[in-house]
Amino acid sequence: MSDTRPAALHQRQPAPPCIFVIFGASGDLTKRKLIPALFNLSCVGLLPEKFAIVGVAITPGNDQTFRDQMSADIKQFSTHPVDPQQWDPFVAGCYYLHGDLNDQSAYTALKEKLDAVRQARGIPGGNVVFNLAITPTLFGNVAAHLGDAGLLHETPDGFRRVIIEKPFGRDLDSARELNNELHGNLKEAQIYRIDHYLGKETVQNIMVFRFANMIFEPNWNRRYVDSVQITVAERLGVENRGGYLDNYGVLRDMVQNHMLSVLSLIAMEPPGNISGDAVRNEKVKVLEAIRPMEPEEVLENCVRGQYGAGIIDGRQVPAYRDEPSVNPHSNTETYAALRLFVENWRWADVPFYLRTGKRLAKHLTQVVIRFKRTPLMLFGEKVHSEAGPNALILNIQPEESITIMIRAKKPGPNIVVDTIPLDFDYSEFGKQSPATGYETLLHDCMIGDMTLFHREDSVDASWRIVNPILDVWGALPPRDFPDYDAGTWGPASADKLLERDGRQWENPS
Ligand code: BG6
Repeated sequence: MSDTRPAALHQRQPAPPCIFVIFGASGDLTKRKLIPALFNLSCVGLLPEKFAIVGVAITPGNDQTFRDQMSADIKQFSTHPVDPQQWDPFVAGCYYLHGDLNDQSAYTALKEKLDAVRQARGIPGGNVVFNLAITPTLFGNVAAHLGDAGLLHETPDGFRRVIIEKPFGRDLDSARELNNELHGNLKEAQIYRIDHYLGKETVQNIMVFRFANMIFEPNWNRRYVDSVQITVAERLGVENRGGYLDNYGVLRDMVQNHMLSVLSLIAMEPPGNISGDAVRNEKVKVLEAIRPMEPEEVLENCVRGQYGAGIIDGRQVPAYRDEPSVNPHSNTETYAALRLFVENWRWADVPFYLRTGKRLAKHLTQVVIRFKRTPLMLFGEKVHSEAGPNALILNIQPEESITIMIRAKKPGPNIVVDTIPLDFDYSEFGKQSPATGYETLLHDCMIGDMTLFHREDSVDASWRIVNPILDVWGALPPRDFPDYDAGTWGPASADKLLERDGRQWENPS
């Protein structure tokens, strides 16, 4: 039997020698995620010996001030206690360039800095990763400046890769414009569009669960599956990101990327192998099989909501419109629920219900696959309708577990059927060192594995699904916002969406 795994997945090896450039080095993402993740990689021996980080930002500073700042920040943001024996050599490989990203001279200076760092650290070859931890409106310009400075030119011993973070545009047109801008200077194989959901261990496990087991796949289709629910519920409100969220809304912020990605992992066909393109080809087919809705279908299948004041953890929290940096008359949705259909042979007529929201009753990301009833009610209609149907629950966070709900006879003289859970807790399976969620993704980029990154066509395909909804919601301002209290499970209209189909949301108590 053939083994189709790429070599990289047999056993992770240290990345090849390279320089990791972070644009936006004085920003939040750098200190909260990127540096802690790179540090974690270094602690487990997955960074190459010949490695350096070059931070670039508009904030004045030099190598030493950058190292001092990183050393102060890591104490707060590291996922484990910082051992100076590990940190000191790591931070000694951090360099800084003060520069204005809109000014071409910064890129000339960067080129010189890279040469100097390469020499100082004895880094062979010309491998460079550019991580754009900056506002998305600058992505196109920065790529153009990098291109003009000759910094994106690849050679046999020098890859040039660019990592960008969502949002990849605001809608279909702007996403296409961004892709065109990037492609003016980069090949698609150089663009790593990161989605931190795909870095989550339990999201990655979806493929293993489906394709390394024989018992689930035969049932994974319209014949046996009644419906699928994907929930990403947050207790958090807008935190310090009111301005951004008010401008985007959860449909763009969560559904277009993370949730449709999870949906495609659940619904995709088995790929021929697990190389980046084979997997991404299958994922994009799922998105392409979701037909963009007509306006009247949007009204029927999509629900939006916005939270009012309420109670979270026994504490009174303000309404969305009273949050810092949010327009007090804002019509931006903080909740969205969708009923989607993947129109292919495997999934025709099986509803996929997606919902996400801020300030909900619980922090929970889960996928529930509900199975159909047995064809014969052997133990009587009452018995069957009282016990819940079979369901498979993939808990992604905060608990990482898999539960299968099965029916069983209650002990006793009568036939009483009840539903019981068969549980598997991921944490009992193996101890994981605490991580930021970026480790796998950054390492994948350095070794050139694109499996977990969004490809241009999947970004396009997911905007094609979301765009008609944005159009209808934009044209018809909501009349009933705020329509759910913080600390609840969202607006009543979302419950009705499922009730109409004779179903209900799986809300854990
Ligand atoms: C981000 C969104 O991509 O994901 C945030 O911009 C959201 O609004 C966050 O809070 C949720 O991520 P996680 O990993 O905490 O579920």
